[in-house]
Amino acid sequence: MSLPARRIGILTGGGDAPGLNAVIRAVVRSATTAGIECIGIEDSFDGLMFPGRTRRLTVADVTGLHRLGGTILGTTNRGNPFAYPQKDSDVPADYSARAVEHFHALGLSALIVIGGDGTLAIAHEFQRRGVPIVGVPKTIDNDIVETSMTFGFDTAVAFATDAIDRLHATAHAHHRIMVVEVMGRYSGWIALYAAIAGGADAALIPEIPFELSRVATHINARDLLGARSSIVVVAEGATAVGGARMVVAPTRPGQAERLGGIAERISHALEPLTDKESRHVVLGHLQRGGSPLAFDRVLATRFGSQAVDLVQRRRFGVMVALRADRIVEVPLEFVVGRSRPVPLDSDVIQVARNMGMCLGD
Ligand code: F6P
Repeated sequence: MSLPARRIGILTGGGDAPGLNAVIRAVVRSATTAGIECIGIEDSFDGLMFPGRTRRLTVADVTGLHRLGGTILGTTNRGNPFAYPQKDSDVPADYSARAVEHFHALGLSALIVIGGDGTLAIAHEFQRRGVPIVGVPKTIDNDIVETSMTFGFDTAVAFATDAIDRLHATAHAHHRIMVVEVMGRYSGWIALYAAIAGGADAALIPEIPFELSRVATHINARDLLGARSSIVVVAEGATAVGGARMVVAPTRPGQAERLGGIAERISHALEPLTDKESRHVVLGHLQRGGSPLAFDRVLATRFGSQAVDLVQRRRFGVMVALRADRIVEVPLEFVVGRSRPVPLDSDVIQVARNMGMCLGD
């Protein structure tokens, strides 16, 4: 029988989300309580591939972290050790064996990986190569399967809602349309929640390809009823019927597609269709920064604490998840290669329609 864990590693991968630091704090505090030492690995798996990128984390190192956005460990969404991008070649290198060696050289008995679908897929590959993994799901996009919520989502939605509240005032003053672009990658959770919370007039999400003429008709009908302005929330991954997703730059090897630009396009196109002035706003990374709200702090702390509990019970190859307000474990293999769009029969979609919101269909 293997010995109980004495030293574990922790890393954060992919885009940052408010609550990452709260997970780190929860892991370090819970592990310390259990007599387990924590080693922080910097910049996702880069810290396992390259020397000098790890450090011991004590309770003193994580004091007050629950309040902070970002991640004290750093992160990247480009460093897949199984296909590491090379400066002078288009052919990526496989550094995974080096990472496994380093894991053992550090004397680690488990690795807690906090990340989104891409990072968790890499973690799953390491689990298959004998590295004991516990995953913690993270993303503002809320699109990870098997968990009903990820931390970071609530804070991102709150920021977008505040932005919409502000835009209502200026839109009304100038009789304008304001088109607000929010993140979310290929899912419309942020857009839909922020649109409902902010009382938007239209919400365009990747799950429902839109026809701009329908949005224009909706805005024109509102005007006839005396509305001076309209707010359209559009998810960065939304597409017109038969159209393609908009990207800001060609995708580089080892990097995910960078979405963006749809709000500007829609804003220009709506002007002739509505005979109104239109402006667009891209909320971008502002949605990811900032202090996590209470819900995200609590969820992150529960996830971190439960991850350490799973290490102690030697439950590896799993991810912590939220289900009906309980923290459960889910095999990583159930998560890999899947994503969680807003279901078309979701009550959230129905609620938006009941509120008279145009979804572009
Ligand atoms: O997955 C989180 C996310 O913020 C997406 O909503 C967005 O498309 C992407 O990351 C942006 O990534 P980057 O920070 O690499 O531009």
